[in-house]
Amino acid sequence: MRKWRRRTGHICQSVCCSENVNLIVLGDYKALSCAGADWFEEGIREKPDAAIVPATGDTPMGLYRELAERHSRGLIDTSQLCIFQLDAYLGLAQDDRRSLFGWMHRVFIEPLGIAESNVVRLAGDVLDPWEACRVYEAAVRAAGGFDLSVLGLGPNGHLGFNEPPSPPDAPTRIVDLTPESIVSNARYWGGEEHVPRHALTCGMDLLLAARRTLLVVSGTHKHEILHRAIEGPQTPAVPASYLQSASHVTVLADQAAWQGR
Ligand code: F6R
Repeated sequence: MRKWRRRTGHICQSVCCSENVNLIVLGDYKALSCAGADWFEEGIREKPDAAIVPATGDTPMGLYRELAERHSRGLIDTSQLCIFQLDAYLGLAQDDRRSLFGWMHRVFIEPLGIAESNVVRLAGDVLDPWEACRVYEAAVRAAGGFDLSVLGLGPNGHLGFNEPPSPPDAPTRIVDLTPESIVSNARYWGGEEHVPRHALTCGMDLLLAARRTLLVVSGTHKHEILHRAIEGPQTPAVPASYLQSASHVTVLADQAAWQGR
């Protein structure tokens, strides 16, 4: 933590450390993004061929920009990393700009110079998407599970598209999006009516087995769900609450998310 303070020049505060979850509150989004990049850099320095599952969504974008910047300065080596897609809309082609694969490609794969051969898709645009889920699971298991997982917190407590209710052993699967996720994703689609109703998601079982997890949470609108996720009961109604029993979880929240103002 001291290292983060020095690098970012922003105040950070370790609020509570349970056995599994280390919550760190940072002054603002910029500080959160730098701290997230530090976490990531440390993880891949320890394991240069790490298997990584990175979320899309707004929150990790600053972190990815920071990583891209460090990569362009030659500070981090990404050549051996293996990247797994976290989730996908059902039926959307991978080259569709709205696809989550396309998004991950633009903000993470390309800027970090990851080789295509080191990227594992969760394919939502194939004839048999259930089979695609099984193929994906097999690939994660063949890699020995995830070393690093970078997640955002859904407004309804989802992780990936593990919508509530999702038990901790929920597998990689096709899910129906909840009305809350449809509303929250409407901004990317030009209105709720355009948001796909179904998606594929990496399962809770694989996410909770990751060796290290980073959950990034920003903004006052995440205040209540953040507290429910890390302090509330572990329940399928808040899938992120199961991170309380995962190993080596770091939660980076900005003051706005932690204090609600
Ligand atoms: C994105 C994803 C979602 C988001 C979550 C938070 O791949 O799987 O779970 O991480 O909805 O999104 P933001 O960061 O936009 O608030």
